[in-house]
Amino acid sequence: MKKSNPWIQYIDLSKQFNEEKKLLLPKIEKLLLSGKYILSDEVEKFENEICKYQDMKYCVSVNSGTDALILSLLSLNIKPGDEVITQANSYVATAAAIKAVGAKIVFSDVYDDQTMNVEDMKSKINSRTKVILPVHLTGRMCDMKKIMRIARKNNLRVIEDCAQSIGSIFNGKKSGSFGDLGTFSTHPLKNLNACGDGGFVVSNNKKLSDFIKLRRNHGHLTREKIKFFGTVSRLDALQAVILNFRLKRLEKVIKKRLKNASIYKKKLKSLEIYHPNERKDCRDTYHLFVIQLKKRNELKEFLFKNKIESNIHYPIPIHKQKVFKEYPQFLKKTEKQSNEILSLPINQYLNANEINKVCECIKVFFGK
Ligand SMILES: Cc1ncc(COP(=O)(O)O)c(C=O)c1O
Repeated sequence: MKKSNPWIQYIDLSKQFNEEKKLLLPKIEKLLLSGKYILSDEVEKFENEICKYQDMKYCVSVNSGTDALILSLLSLNIKPGDEVITQANSYVATAAAIKAVGAKIVFSDVYDDQTMNVEDMKSKINSRTKVILPVHLTGRMCDMKKIMRIARKNNLRVIEDCAQSIGSIFNGKKSGSFGDLGTFSTHPLKNLNACGDGGFVVSNNKKLSDFIKLRRNHGHLTREKIKFFGTVSRLDALQAVILNFRLKRLEKVIKKRLKNASIYKKKLKSLEIYHPNERKDCRDTYHLFVIQLKKRNELKEFLFKNKIESNIHYPIPIHKQKVFKEYPQFLKKTEKQSNEILSLPINQYLNANEINKVCECIKVFFGK
């Protein structure tokens, strides 16, 4: 009997767990038997390991990338009346965090490669602007050299949204190590992923990280005393066990994604498809492999008919969401890209044959 053609899935997290379970389950069992489920040694170990990985002084783990953003904005005392400049092509969480602290969301347009358009960002700075919040979407970093220069000149703080960019490098430095604060997500779909929600903030500023550390745990100085009223946004010890295990494998994951990306780049080069070039002293980590093309919807459908899953990150830019009522904005590139971007499957469990199959299918779509 002929074997049926299997799907090329965008992601299949069960493959990851199946590969890990022999080594990971005893660690989970040990934690469960210890009874230390809240802010235990495992959480501290994770924060210390991230400091080493990032070459940063401080790391505070929290319960999501969204809370990492909200707590970072609060640590900078951002409040109603303040303005924060970010990108509308991000996941909604970036803007939602600004909204959560009551500040005004101001969007900068982006370049062809989906990174923050620095000239547009600069033109939107005024006396109310307090923070620049670049998003290293897909794992490709914004031009942090220029952004930091503009921010420092205008006395502004910088929060890097690194939810999609752990391990990414710009000018030889890791994402999250340029700004005042770098925020990360360990959502199950991220390159460093937990089996549930999670996130963390990195910084070299003790005052800011101390604030976040207290704020995530009801402001507790000791069990009895609080410094201020805070909230609960702690990383579960159980997730920390999983993240400690997976952090050791992160570079392998990135290398596999880079390998898959290199096949795409080579095979799709001759087609009428846009994909950004590599830059010197930089490493894009390919949380997403995004191509841009006019016939995006048609290609997505064609791939699906050929049992290949693809995705759109994100089909509606944030300023075009119905709930965004602040003020009208025209973001030419962001809007154009939302109709042309397509994320191809690139996860570390896909082998060269499967990536080649996706490329062949795209070539057939283009009649090549
Ligand atoms: C760019 C970006 N920022 C923030 C977040 C929020 O992270 P979380 O889902 O962990 O709250 C995400 C997650 O998808 C993201 O992609």
